[in-house]
Amino acid sequence: MTEKPTGTPSSDGSVVTPWQVTGAVDYDRLIATFGTTPLTSTLVERVERLTGKKAHHFLRRGIFFSHRDLDQLLDAYENGQRFYLYTGRGPSSEALHLGHLIPFIFTKYLQDAFRVPLVIQLTDDEKFLFSKHDVSSHPLESYIQLGRENSKDIIACGFDRERTFLFADSDYIGWLYPNVVRIQRAVSFSQVRGIFGFQHSDNIGKIAFPAVQAAPAFSSSFPHLFPTKQQIPCLIPCAVDQDPYFRMTRDVAPRLGYRKPALIHSKFFPPLQGAEGKMSASDPNSAIFLSDSAAQIRKKVNKYAFSGGRDTVEEHRLYGGDCARDIAFQYLCFFLEDDDRLEDIREAYSTGRMLSGEIKAELVRCLQPMLADLQARRQAVSNADVEEFMRIRPLIVE
Ligand code: TYM
Ligand code: TRP
Repeated sequence: MTEKPTGTPSSDGSVVTPWQVTGAVDYDRLIATFGTTPLTSTLVERVERLTGKKAHHFLRRGIFFSHRDLDQLLDAYENGQRFYLYTGRGPSSEALHLGHLIPFIFTKYLQDAFRVPLVIQLTDDEKFLFSKHDVSSHPLESYIQLGRENSKDIIACGFDRERTFLFADSDYIGWLYPNVVRIQRAVSFSQVRGIFGFQHSDNIGKIAFPAVQAAPAFSSSFPHLFPTKQQIPCLIPCAVDQDPYFRMTRDVAPRLGYRKPALIHSKFFPPLQGAEGKMSASDPNSAIFLSDSAAQIRKKVNKYAFSGGRDTVEEHRLYGGDCARDIAFQYLCFFLEDDDRLEDIREAYSTGRMLSGEIKAELVRCLQPMLADLQARRQAVSNADVEEFMRIRPLIVE
């Protein structure tokens, strides 16, 4: 672990840590500084071959752009060794926003394409420990409650209930604890300080927490899901801000006699204000939430989405819009599945045939039905469904 402490701005001024993403992130540079591997088109083709399905557009368009040991995981899969997926959510807001959806949509695709089990961690403990709010206004119970709310958004993404186990740390910690203490024994304070930038004044829960996010990467943390004593390989889809946790996890794994988890990383879904940083729940005008109405979506896009268009219609017609800076276009790359239509829009906008108002209207037409559909599915998730996803039970492992 020789990399600079998390939180050190790189030479372009951007910062990527589990709790902060600012500046224009240079993803090639991030691959180099984090020491991950670029996800090549050869690997994407291999995924297509192994799953017998066209690769998800997040793969085709380089939105998932980096990995660790995905090739080895696929080697094992090809030899008949099944893996499990692990992802998570830190419940800090009432509803998920579009950025949070990225890893979950992708995880759902992976679960269906490979037909593998999935565990989802709700880190209510993390959000309580790292909260900037007063304990009296934001007690532990409020984070537990947000976790319950968020689980409905997550279930609405369509996960297979026979293959998905959802758990909240505050509830499941007893099962994780043996691996948590093994990990804690193997990592020193200076290591976590180096990775996460902890200070002496930080509460001790923060310092111990990374072991809690690491533990689900080891299949023995789920004895009821995976009754076999054999270790099952793990693949973790997440945005690249979560990588520091798993660098630590991969570092300790061999010392505990465990396999290192594989990872697949996404880029950040940008805030409405522009292609820097990441969409974040703390500024409601920067984010579109799963709970936003059709009218709110239209209003936020029209009012706040940063435009790569020109100052006047005449100039725009003459020089065309800048797709790289245009938030409506960027969002369409994430959510408009039709490759031909996306290419048409790119062509029309960058040559000035399509105006800013028109590309925003395209985005609104794409997002409104998508979110209406998610909202309808969320409505249909009952408390009993949540209980079922969170019930300790064996999962189907073929
Ligand atoms: P959290 O709740 O901050 O975020 C949940 C997941 O969403 C990703 N994410 C984004 N992806 C793209 N664009 C954005 N603007 C954006 N904002 C958030 C995060 O990277 C994450 O994948 N500590 C974690 C919870 C966790 C976890 C895990 C995540 C526990 N175990 C295992 C991934 C894998 C957290 O607070 O995530
Ligand atoms: N994202 C949290 C926040 O809202 C903090 C956080 C998450 C964090 N994961 C972390 C801080 C890892 C340090 C290390 O501030």
